[in-house]
Amino acid sequence: MIRLISFEGGDGSGKSTQLRLLEQYLAGRGRGCLGTREPGGTNLGKMIRRVLLQAGTEEISSPTELFLYLADRAQHVHEVIRPALASGTLVLCDRFTDSTLAYQGYGRGVDLGMLRRLNEVASGGITPDITFLLDCPVELGLSRAEERSSIIHSQSSATEDRASRAEDRFEREEVEFHERVRKGFLELARTEPGRIHVLDASRAVRDLHEEIRKIVDEKLANGE
Ligand code: TMP
Repeated sequence: MIRLISFEGGDGSGKSTQLRLLEQYLAGRGRGCLGTREPGGTNLGKMIRRVLLQAGTEEISSPTELFLYLADRAQHVHEVIRPALASGTLVLCDRFTDSTLAYQGYGRGVDLGMLRRLNEVASGGITPDITFLLDCPVELGLSRAEERSSIIHSQSSATEDRASRAEDRFEREEVEFHERVRKGFLELARTEPGRIHVLDASRAVRDLHEEIRKIVDEKLANGE
């Protein structure tokens, strides 16, 4: 049974758009689901998100960053994901445990074994049934993210994201960091090909949606 679908990828890979399209598609077919995200899927998480992504001058140490992501996840699982799964709701999550392995593990160099154990604690052992990895060249993702940041920054109607979105802390990282993250995601996909579906995120939004829809429909039809 499919209970949890996660969307992963580098910054500007278009995963949030694809999550929304799948959510709309499933709702249209009478299959209610819950779209949520990390960091920021709870009220506490929104505060943590602001702290994490605000591009201030304050340096956040690597362990501090890690524990903030894990705290966000622990609260998200407790407050949103576990209750939704318990009531039989299909959950679509924009980033989950794989992001921690890719960004903090492959990107920052934190030990992967330790991260897996901490992920297990934060997620309470919940793992995605399907993960869509939206993969594209780093330059393309970063230029998309930059475009989005400047649009949001120029809008006067402030959103909760605004402070964090005027080029966030991660978008300021050097290209090599993002290359390591991309390689990390692809490495994770190689080790779990049954769960992680790698999609070419440089393709048109509609084509990608079509592919995602097909995979989900097939699994749902098979009663998976
Ligand atoms: P988003 O903009 O896609 O919502 O993601 C926010 C940033 O947080 C993105 O640059 C990736 C980063 N991140 C981590 O570094 N570790 C994590 O565990 C998660 C969930 C996100």
